[in-house]
Amino acid sequence: MEKPSAAPEILLNSGHKMPTLALGTSTYPMPPPHQLTSILIDAIAAGYRHFDTAASYGTEEAVGQAVAAAVKRGLIGNRKEVFVTSKLSMKDTHRDLVLPALKETLGKLGMDCVDLYLVHWPIRIKQSADPYKLREEDMLEFDVKGVWEGMEECCRLGLAKSIGVSNFTCAKLSNLLDFASIPPAVEMNVGWQQEKLLEYCKKKRIHICAWSPLAANGAIWGSLAVMDSPILKEIAAARNKTIAQVALRWIHEQGGSPVVKSFNKERMTQNLQIFDWELTTDELCKIQKVPQARGYRGERFVFPEGQYKSLEQLWDGEI
Ligand SMILES: NC(=O)c1ccc[n+]([C@@H]2O[C@H](COP(=O)([O-])OP(=O)(O)OC[C@H]3O[C@@H](n4cnc5c(N)ncnc54)[C@H](OP(=O)(O)O)[C@@H]3O)[C@@H](O)[C@H]2O)c1
Repeated sequence: MEKPSAAPEILLNSGHKMPTLALGTSTYPMPPPHQLTSILIDAIAAGYRHFDTAASYGTEEAVGQAVAAAVKRGLIGNRKEVFVTSKLSMKDTHRDLVLPALKETLGKLGMDCVDLYLVHWPIRIKQSADPYKLREEDMLEFDVKGVWEGMEECCRLGLAKSIGVSNFTCAKLSNLLDFASIPPAVEMNVGWQQEKLLEYCKKKRIHICAWSPLAANGAIWGSLAVMDSPILKEIAAARNKTIAQVALRWIHEQGGSPVVKSFNKERMTQNLQIFDWELTTDELCKIQKVPQARGYRGERFVFPEGQYKSLEQLWDGEI
């Protein structure tokens, strides 16, 4: 079936193809379920073919329902025309919990496999913990080897076509690469360009999906570093593009795939229109000068007696 204005696809190291721009589905506050499903159907109609969800977002059911409705309405021919990424919750990062967690995700999606399954954070918390009000006693030891065995089992069973990680640093990736080759998803935007990680991942043939590509546009977990950047404003005005388009195009030109959230029809369409023009060398040089700071630092995961005793340790100095 013809795709309205589809993002190009790239080949992951797993041999599977992935559309290079995804629609993010995490937000706060979340619209009611029926409204969310309808927003996601609009996104499919606008041309989105990659959706980013997670066990912890509460959006898996809506993604599944939107895909099913889009097939019924003839917007797409079948479920396989859409690439679905979901993520393992911090509560389930244990060897024996990975497979049951993915089965629960698949039940919510109403699908027999996900296209990409990611370890959401290199962190493990108790099942009873509130992830947004973590206490020291909620934190458990994260065993990357055991978790990765569980992830590989999901892959072998055909329940996840590709597997990867999210929020891992070069050091954590390097440790993990002793076991497998993987496509990770990490934060990256003009205000946090991740040069070191980008370089490392290129060498290891790992593809980067960039979450919060607009630095969440000032949400509590983000900043205005992208949308208020005078450098981007100047480039956008000169090129007759929006700031968001310049920011997303920059990620695309670095070889990454933006995971951008918009629940607004006009902005959804705008964010897809980044594939038929290029930034000039001069513009790329200007963007290199955007002040750098990690947007979401994850202070809530750091405890004096926990696995991560400082932000330096959580991010292995990449902060
Ligand atoms: N792996 C992880 O740990 C992780 C962490 C955070 C996020 N994520 C994923 O990444 C996705 C995106 O990140 P994010 O939601 O934090 O931030 P984002 O995509 O950088 O920014 C989203 C914000 O920007 C606005 N926006 C979108 N397009 C715009 C445009 N063209 N012009 C002006 N404003 C625009 C949205 O509002 P409207 O909706 O009103 O347009 C929303 O307020 C999430 O939804 C989630 O799926 C993953």
